[in-house]
Amino acid sequence: EKGGYDHFMLKEIYEQPKSIKDTMRGRIHLDKGLIALGGIRDYERALANARRIIFVACGTSWHAGLVAEYLFEELTRIPVEVEYASEFRYRNPIIYDDDIVIAISQSGETADTLAALEIAKQKGATTLGICNVVGSTISRVTDAGAYTHAGPEIGVASTKAFTAQVTVATLMALHIAHFKGSINTSQFNRYLFEFQSIPDKVERVLEKAAESKVIAEIYKDATNALFLGRGINFPVALEGALKLKEISYIHAEGYPAAEMKHGPIALIDENMPVFVIANQGPSYKKVVSNIEEVKARSGKVIAIVTEGDKDVKDMADYSFEVPECDELFTPLLTVVPLQLISYHVAVMRGCNVDQPRNLAKSVTVE
Ligand code: M6R
Repeated sequence: EKGGYDHFMLKEIYEQPKSIKDTMRGRIHLDKGLIALGGIRDYERALANARRIIFVACGTSWHAGLVAEYLFEELTRIPVEVEYASEFRYRNPIIYDDDIVIAISQSGETADTLAALEIAKQKGATTLGICNVVGSTISRVTDAGAYTHAGPEIGVASTKAFTAQVTVATLMALHIAHFKGSINTSQFNRYLFEFQSIPDKVERVLEKAAESKVIAEIYKDATNALFLGRGINFPVALEGALKLKEISYIHAEGYPAAEMKHGPIALIDENMPVFVIANQGPSYKKVVSNIEEVKARSGKVIAIVTEGDKDVKDMADYSFEVPECDELFTPLLTVVPLQLISYHVAVMRGCNVDQPRNLAKSVTVE
């Protein structure tokens, strides 16, 4: 059932063009210029008028929440908070009845996320779910929601569930922004047109998978790694670090690139691989100077760049190209090479990729 792949994780990485497309299917209507999200239809107005949206989640799903924060704030101008469910539940959180609390969970069974939702409900907030498992506990206890259609995810390391979560968050943010008028119809249609080309662009990233193996071979013996990104790609840096540590047991940390000089820069020497998301976009020039800072300290830079890039490619030790797309959709592309590199590093180190030590697919105890 691994479909010819050595591991479920690799199969699931390769399934992403399809799982993203499946998650978009029946929801994007270019001809009519609309997004249909049946599950949240009754809550569109509540979302558009929300005082605040709070995402609660754990692990990779929390990273998807951080991406959602950028999407929702940029497109809908509604204030967003993203909370670790485990912290939120024990903090006696301040929740208003015109807040919307959205749980993101692949399994729909994560104990802390479920408990966070129960508290939000008690305090009178509307609760929504973004789950992958149909009929899961979280999908049942929420007022409404929108499923990801990633299909079963077997590998403990989440890959296609993450990109499907980001896909649903993008659809929701675009839809609510259009509904409330924070983006106009021509902006909305332009985003829609561009967004539906993402699965093909993910496919193009996967066509270059061989390069991720070359990079993995070179850095597989590292004991530490840093992942840097800015803006909407800062959460992708966190996700890249989580992927590497959970399956290869290499200590890795993700940071917003500009935070480096507030501490982690002290770690950089010739043995430290630094993975930098340096795609073209509003942060590009800033990221270029962060790369210069790393190189000045003999760090090794592996950069994720936009096709046709020159400046970063000249500076970096290795680079991996992803197709150009609107900044808001870039996490769906930039995360893929990081998933692939982690996978290959873990295989080369002889780790149990699909079932890493000490980890369970679904954390149903706190
Ligand atoms: O099922 P959930 O999305 O609620 O799970 C949340 C985390 O346990 C999960 O994302 C975990 O961090 C993964 N192992 C990451 O790859």
